[in-house]
Amino acid sequence: MHKQSIGIGLIGFGVIGSQVAKVLTEKAEILADQVGCPLVLRKIKVIEQDLTKPQINEIGRQYFTTDEDEFFSDSEIDIVIELMGGESPALQYLEKALSNGKHVVTANKEVIAKNGAGLLRMAHQNNVGLRYEASVGGGIPLIAPFQYELVANKINGIYAIINGTTNYILTRMAIDGIDFSTALASAQRLGYAEADPKNDIEGIDATYKLAILTSLALQSEVKPDDIYHEGISRLSASDFRYARELGFAIKLLAIAKRKLNTIEVRVHPAFIPQDSLLAKVDGVYNAVLVEGDLVDKVLFYGQGAGPLPTSSAVISDVVAEARDIYLNVKNHFQIKLNTGVVIRPMSEIKTRYYLRMTVADRSGVLSQITKVLGDHDISIASVIQKEADKVNQTAEAVLMTHPAGEKAMKQALEGLSHLEVITEIGNFVRVEA
Ligand SMILES: NC(=O)c1ccc[n+]([C@@H]2O[C@H](COP(=O)([O-])OP(=O)(O)OC[C@H]3O[C@@H](n4cnc5c(N)ncnc54)[C@H](OP(=O)(O)O)[C@@H]3O)[C@@H](O)[C@H]2O)c1
Repeated sequence: MHKQSIGIGLIGFGVIGSQVAKVLTEKAEILADQVGCPLVLRKIKVIEQDLTKPQINEIGRQYFTTDEDEFFSDSEIDIVIELMGGESPALQYLEKALSNGKHVVTANKEVIAKNGAGLLRMAHQNNVGLRYEASVGGGIPLIAPFQYELVANKINGIYAIINGTTNYILTRMAIDGIDFSTALASAQRLGYAEADPKNDIEGIDATYKLAILTSLALQSEVKPDDIYHEGISRLSASDFRYARELGFAIKLLAIAKRKLNTIEVRVHPAFIPQDSLLAKVDGVYNAVLVEGDLVDKVLFYGQGAGPLPTSSAVISDVVAEARDIYLNVKNHFQIKLNTGVVIRPMSEIKTRYYLRMTVADRSGVLSQITKVLGDHDISIASVIQKEADKVNQTAEAVLMTHPAGEKAMKQALEGLSHLEVITEIGNFVRVEA
């Protein structure tokens, strides 16, 4: 006997929550056709201050509650959609929902990145579903492709631009030649960056998303703390000028690479060739390039955030779960834990490097730099030297190295910092080509 309707409970009525409630109401008929029976919004759990929001009246005041017990004890709720964000108390809410036998849909990357494997186990034990398509890449389908469509592949690499805020900032710096703080202020004015932008600009948000994707791709538990991360605030307008001159774009890349029995997982700014697909991903757009042994390369591209694209992903999860409930199908995804995965320490990775320094504008400087690099087995592929300051007689020296080990590069940078002819080491950026 099929269910007559499927009850929905929503936690959080912010940017995404209010949009999801709106879509559930406005598209009720279409969604019912897709599922086989109506999706009925039963309750929305909010905190006190949300009750003053004008959209509450559009949805109907009777749906809203601030009472946790009232929400979780509602036996008419089949699917709980969590859209409040943050780790706590969202994690406790998800655990409560799952252990009460509710199916769960969430957009919460932090909770899933840190606790995804445990929550999936809990869902399995309680014979319910846990879906999180919106947690990575907003409206871009990414979780389902990794869980289902790409499973025949051994995934060898993921190269992703998965933070719209930083991609907007880097695009403005590249196109308009402005510095980091001006571009950040512009992103904040336009609502692309939060008042406290730390999680985005320091690459933390990207580590959550990379942890989720890598865990699925490698069927293992990769946690955000396993991922090396570096933000974008050290980049200057001059780095973008030199990058262009050398044929590169600069992007904040989230990278997972399989190397024999080890994987590299890292988030940092990277020089990438100007003619590569990812170099053309501008503004708030996201893209994820996946390399699999059967498919070769697959590129996912689209809007990685915002209420409309994100609600698309949330609702698609709700419909998928509701179809299973309606048809009485137990189709719950499990991560089969592969314990043999070893994360390669950052000190052991090997890349090419871009290096920008302010140096004394006199002869013999380059040979001193070459000597320090050579002592660490680092050879130079190309050099640009430009007069920087006539009065102080300094020049800007930009080097591209051949592939070198990270440990050797860090030691060489330490050695260079002691050279009297170097006034400042402006920046160094890894090259992914
Ligand atoms: N915004 C996007 O484009 C986007 C894209 C992809 C994924 N996501 C994810 O979607 C989730 C929601 O994001 P959002 O942008 O909608 O955030 P948001 O606008 O801050 O909304 C979250 C809402 O939940 C409320 N809340 C906090 N604690 C609560 C509790 N205990 N019970 C009920 N409500 C509570 C918050 O109230 P206060 O503000 O008063 O604390 C806020 O109104 C997050 O996990 C986020 O990472 C967002």
